[in-house]
Amino acid sequence: MGVIRVRPRPERTGAAKMSRCQRHGVEREAPPAVYRFPPQAISVEFPQESVREETMPIEVLPVRPSFVARVIGADLTALSPAATAAIGTAIDTYSVLIVPDQHLDDDHLLTLGKTFGDVEPPRNHRVVQRLKHAELADISNLDANNRLRAADDHRRLDSLGNRLWHSDASFREVPGALSMLFAHVVPPAGGETEFADLRAAYDALDAPMQARIEGLAVEHSIFHSRGQLGHTDYTDAERAALPPVLHPLVRVHPVSKRKTLYMGSHASHIVGWPMPDGRLLLRDLMEHATQREFVYRHAWRVGDLVIWDNRCTMHRGRSYDDATHPRDLRRVTTKDLSMLQPA
Ligand SMILES: [Fe+2]
Repeated sequence: MGVIRVRPRPERTGAAKMSRCQRHGVEREAPPAVYRFPPQAISVEFPQESVREETMPIEVLPVRPSFVARVIGADLTALSPAATAAIGTAIDTYSVLIVPDQHLDDDHLLTLGKTFGDVEPPRNHRVVQRLKHAELADISNLDANNRLRAADDHRRLDSLGNRLWHSDASFREVPGALSMLFAHVVPPAGGETEFADLRAAYDALDAPMQARIEGLAVEHSIFHSRGQLGHTDYTDAERAALPPVLHPLVRVHPVSKRKTLYMGSHASHIVGWPMPDGRLLLRDLMEHATQREFVYRHAWRVGDLVIWDNRCTMHRGRSYDDATHPRDLRRVTTKDLSMLQPA
């Protein structure tokens, strides 16, 4: 892997300090001691600094000092080992990467997922397969014949749960690690995806709250999240196939070693606590973590591939006119095998 160097933009002079990351051999500029987030979720037009991989034409442009970056110059259909390592380093640092101007068919997307880990097949709930591979999640409002789904379509109603904050597949014993979502067709308005930084949200908790939640276990269930929207039309066999699972409320990211919250709409209650107490705590933490200072909103363009780390972020889709406009996004997700190991 080549050396990655931060190149401050020309207008940034004087105060920059350089430090070396021991794990990746990366030399990067230390972030400012105090950084004030903008009051609203921001877009990506104003990167603060540039990271360049010397031997590959890839630039990583952070949107915020440690959350969300834009990757320029990558061809995800033909990643070299050096480019793969550079993207891996970037995802460990920024948690969400936007890679624009890609041309990915279903084969390319599946291959990309396998490049970064073991692929977790999606539920693809009651769906007649529209995509080429069952390992890909169909994040669209289209049926197998590429027609818009009806308002009362069961698959559509199930998918509306993705409008609630969640981490992919947290309802599974082995949940999602990295998700890669590619935009084939986007609506003219709406349909954005928002991401929340659960590492920064944990860091911002006061010490008594950090102590209070340490070691707590949370029960997650897909039927809890769907039930919040009043969608409960699932068979006994469907419920039996996805029983509730337990995950820690506070996790240590396996690579960055940063502490992070782990919750979302699938998170039902705190194990061992009275149900109302646990749900109130989870609501408080969700309200805290989704304050705008922790949230980035991505407005999709055709050809965008967004990679995010489910182990330390939540996300939600935003509404759009799905009765009129198609929205065809396709996702591959890797398995979070670190969940099988003690923290
Ligand atoms: Fe999702």
